[in-house]
Amino acid sequence: MKTVRNLVYGNWLPAVVDDDKAVFSINPTTGEPVAKFHPASEKMVNDAVAAARRAFNKWRLTPAPHRGEILYKAAELLVARKQELGELVTTEMGKVIKEGLSDVQEAIDMAYYMAGEGRRLQGETVPSELKNKDAKSVREPIGVFGLITPWNFPVAIPSWKIFAALITGNTVVLKPSSDTVACAQVFVQILEHAGVPKGVLNMVVGGGSTVGDWLVRHPGIDGVSFTGSCDVGFGVERLAAAGRKVISTEMGGKNAVIVDNEADVEWAAQGCVWGAFGTAGQRCTAASRIVVLPKVYDQFVEKFVELMKNLQVGDPFTKDVGPVINQAAKDKILNYVGIGLEETATNRKMDIIVNSNMDEVLYRKGTFVPPVIFTGVNPQSPLAQEEIFGPVPVVIRAKNLDHAIDIVNDVEYGLSSAIFTNNVNASARAERDLNTGLVYINAATIGAEIQLPFGGIKATGIGAREAGGRGGALDLYTKWKVVYRDWSGKIQKAQMDE
Ligand code: UN1
Repeated sequence: MKTVRNLVYGNWLPAVVDDDKAVFSINPTTGEPVAKFHPASEKMVNDAVAAARRAFNKWRLTPAPHRGEILYKAAELLVARKQELGELVTTEMGKVIKEGLSDVQEAIDMAYYMAGEGRRLQGETVPSELKNKDAKSVREPIGVFGLITPWNFPVAIPSWKIFAALITGNTVVLKPSSDTVACAQVFVQILEHAGVPKGVLNMVVGGGSTVGDWLVRHPGIDGVSFTGSCDVGFGVERLAAAGRKVISTEMGGKNAVIVDNEADVEWAAQGCVWGAFGTAGQRCTAASRIVVLPKVYDQFVEKFVELMKNLQVGDPFTKDVGPVINQAAKDKILNYVGIGLEETATNRKMDIIVNSNMDEVLYRKGTFVPPVIFTGVNPQSPLAQEEIFGPVPVVIRAKNLDHAIDIVNDVEYGLSSAIFTNNVNASARAERDLNTGLVYINAATIGAEIQLPFGGIKATGIGAREAGGRGGALDLYTKWKVVYRDWSGKIQKAQMDE
């Protein structure tokens, strides 16, 4: 079993872990502990913030290309350790091994991308109205960021936040999810080995209502980037606003796929299986509603159910679908299945189909939920409105494309949506009118790439988007400074002098 500690100014604390007070991260496949840790005290959180503050000035003045070289080195170390870290993701979080490796790959992509930003970070130089005067804008770091990350992408999401924060010259205190502390520690250690100076990246472990709260409230924190549930995230938004901190949240989704009358049904069914059951449905971007038009409804449902029934559920190192993260998650998902069963009993249009390929021995040890599909679901049902975060998609019947788009948009969230169609006009219509941060055409709702911004609207989150590209994380981790330099040797008056 691994021991996970808190990293404060280059020291992993406490040096000795008191076993009586230890908390464990659990392998959701076997129920066995993966790592033990001692949650940070409030003093330790204060020390971590102080460490980040102390390191800020030197780091902000380190030329960005040099910061980029450290990120480049981190990318190379991640490449070298991809297999080991990917296996740890699968062990501690439970996603299937191909996805465990891709979680690390996303961090590698982000490291190379942001390393390159070290030689860009462009602002603007524009002409002045006046002679012998320069006018430009430059990006400057915000200061110290508190980064709160979830368990479902235990390497990729910390990488989105940390690499963007570091390349722009901020320093960081990371609080990873307690369910995936071992992944976080290895990732942070790789960054240390790559040469991130002490104090620039600190880590505190523990619960959201204690350690997370102390961090977000701390007056020494200038900005907060949070990915996780709405329950916690709305509170983080309020606290950050009260403290006048820069804030970005990325929370829930109730993402939908439209299967148009002119879709390639086989392709759509494959896409929906990947979108709904990949990561056992535990992505913010997961396809949890499939809105199908009448001409292809029966054919689509038949194919979707057939492919779902073929999925093998069990050991994520060898099967198609792994466990869900913990017992609380399993209880929540099964509660929704219960609601669906009650609705099915009274609604003749509804049906439930359950995958029965579960490995029985593992089922008793781990926290598994077999894939379930509800068909004929009312779009206003809680099953079709609330985020389930598990392998339980609902199929909804729509009258036509307008109706389908209305159904997709009529939820609290706005992260991702998709349409399968071979009709170019339908794809253009969907692209324009789907009200989400991400739109996919002939692909499921998952699988965003890091070189474009990631995030959504409505209850999905506020603040600048994550990851790369214009409008991405550089806008979150920097503030603009506009600089005018007059070298005319006399007082010139803008808007007044000729
Ligand atoms: C998430 O579920 O929080 O687009 C992130 C995707 C992944 C990231 C998902 N690249 O599905």
